[in-house]
Order: sequence, then C-alpha cells, then structure tokens
Amino acid sequence: MTGPIAPLALGLETSCDETSAAVLSGDLRILGHVILSQDVHEVYGGVVPELAARAHLQKVDAVVDQALEQAGVTLRDIDVLGVTAGPGLIGALLVGVCWAKAAAYGLGRPWVAVHHMEAHLFSPSLEDVEAEPPFVALLVSGGHTLLLHATAWGEYRLLGETRDDAAGEAFDKVAKLLGLKYPGGPEIERTAAAGDATRHRLPRPMLARNQRPEDEAFYDFSFSGLKTAVVELVRSLEADGVLERERAHVAAAFQAAAVDVLATKTLRAVEQTGCERVLLGGGVSANRALRGEIASRLGSRGRLFFSSPRLALDNGAMVARAARFHFDRGEVSALDGSASAALRFPGLLDPPKRAN
Ligand code: KG4
Ligand code: ZN
Repeated sequence: MTGPIAPLALGLETSCDETSAAVLSGDLRILGHVILSQDVHEVYGGVVPELAARAHLQKVDAVVDQALEQAGVTLRDIDVLGVTAGPGLIGALLVGVCWAKAAAYGLGRPWVAVHHMEAHLFSPSLEDVEAEPPFVALLVSGGHTLLLHATAWGEYRLLGETRDDAAGEAFDKVAKLLGLKYPGGPEIERTAAAGDATRHRLPRPMLARNQRPEDEAFYDFSFSGLKTAVVELVRSLEADGVLERERAHVAAAFQAAAVDVLATKTLRAVEQTGCERVLLGGGVSANRALRGEIASRLGSRGRLFFSSPRLALDNGAMVARAARFHFDRGEVSALDGSASAALRFPGLLDPPKRAN
C-alpha cells in the first residue's frame, strides 16, 4: 500500500490565540487539520499575550498529534516543518517556533519560518487552484491591513497599509464599545444585520476624492479616527439613554464605513494595476458585507477569491502551504533562526514603504 504523496508538510500556527496544526500532502491536499481557539481571553475582552503563550504550550503537542492522526501519518513521515515565525505575539510565536525547530532537529528535517500574512495570501489557493497570482490582495486581520499587488508567488508590491489600527482591531474595539463579545468582528457582523447603516453617518478616514495614485494616502488606511467617531456617537447615545435601541444601527454604520474604505482602496488598486483578479485574506475577509461589496464593485469583469470562514481565520494549513512554496524553492531556515514579532513581509519588490 502506498502512502500520501510526498513531500508531506506540517504547518504550525501559534502567533495569536489559535493553536493550529495541519498536514499537507505533496499535491497540496489537507490531510489533517486542527484549529483550537483559546477561550481564556474572553473575560478580558481581548488577547492577553502571556495567557496566549501558556495556552499554546499546554495544547501544542495534542493539536499536532491530532492533525497527524487525522492524516494517518506520524511525525517521522513529515518531510518539512513550517511554522509562523512572525509577526505576532512574541511569547506565542516562540512556542510554535521552538516546537518546530526541536522537531526539525530531532527528525533531521528542514524547517521553514513562515510570515503570517504571506500565509493568509496562500489560504484561498487551498480550496481553489485558480487563486494564484497575478492578483490584487487585500489582507485584513486583527494586527494588519495590507494592500498588495502580487505578480507571482513571492513577488509582491506593497501598495498601502494602515497607519494606525488594523481593520480587525477596529472591529474588535467597536464591538467592545457596544458591549459585544471578543472577537468583535463576527459579533459586529451579526448585530449589523439587524441595523440600518444610513441612520448614523460615520467618517471614511483617508478617503478623499482628490487623492492621486502618487499620494501615499491613495492606498493607505487609518481606522483610529473611525473608532473615535464611534466613541463619541456611543457616548451621546448613552447620554440620551438610547444606546440599547441604537446598537444595531451603530454596528451597521461602522461596518459600512469600514467596508466602504476597504472596498474603495481595493478597487483603486484594480484600476491602477489593470489587474482584475482580487484576493481577500485574513480574519476580516470572513465578513460577508466586505466580500459582497467588493464582489459587486468588481462586477463580472473580474474574479474574486476568498477562503471559506475556517481557512480565512488563523490556521495551520495556510502555514503549511506557504512553507511548501519556500521549501520548493530551496528556501529553508537555519537552526539558529528564531521568531520575530515584527517580521518583514517577504518578497517585496522595490519596497518604498514600511511593512512588516
Ligand atoms: O487573521 P485572524 O484570524 O488573526 C490575526 O491574524 O489577527 O483575524 C482575526 C480578526 C479579528 O480582529 C476578528 O474580529 C476579525 O478578524 N474577524 C472579523 C470577522 N471574523 C473575524 N471581522 C469582521 N467580520 C467578521 N465576520
Ligand atoms: Zn491572521
């Protein structure tokens, strides 16, 4: 009997509050995949770094074992180990990186340090083989908001990024203001469904008609001003004793403002690059209003790629996939390599801008 197609990749993700491991076959099929979301943070309304690191340490062995078991293989069958090495919470990252390096050393196999946001870029390709560059990519997570033009895997031009809060962070903070649970994104989406987005008008930061492609503001994002506008709105509704009644409308207005900015800048990139293939990645790409808005603005002229909700959020499969890309190009990491909370995005072409 023959086993799964080699090389077998194990992907490990511990950069934030999901402990996840996946086994990917040589032909890029997910053979085993476990995603464990930590619930220790819920009472704090946000991720507590020290608790995240401890929870990863407690669960990482069991999560990997279960992924291997689902795949019907053992650790000895693994040909390459991929792990998120950054960006993220340093204590959390170190759990995964130390685990992968120790396993790589023990097994005599290579390990690949994976950039978390590049891994998000690979996610849709696990479900749709056509989700390949060239594409304009909007990567929206709890820690990052990046707009890229990917001409090939490993060749990315950074167009814009956030100057302050990430898109997901804005969803989380606004959810907290409205008394909703963490993580806030899904809660805002659910609450907004019953609201009228036009009842309260919120600003669209960094969005002005007279912006030109050569201005950094043309593609950059800013969400802290939008959050402050929500703070003020919530305060006045509270003073009037009507917050409870208005909650869904505020959630809808916030979501509409955030989606408008994200969609407008993404479509600007489509116009300017002439590339009508768009890929959405990161946790916020699970948002149906965002997907719907970009799909409708893109219309039938383009293609839109995004992952199913399970693969849009942090997961080990995307890490294994990104690791395979680098492994196939002979790019493996040294045993003295480590995690970095502010790892730079790999493969940036003539990077004129910031970006990690
Ligand atoms: O990529 P991800 O799982 O983790 C990071 O790399 O940060 O993204 C998590 C973020 C959180 O801020 C969460 O609130 C947001 O994605 N998110 C959403 C939705 N689902 C998750 N934001 C808006 N709408 C959603 N449905
Ligand atoms: Zn992520």
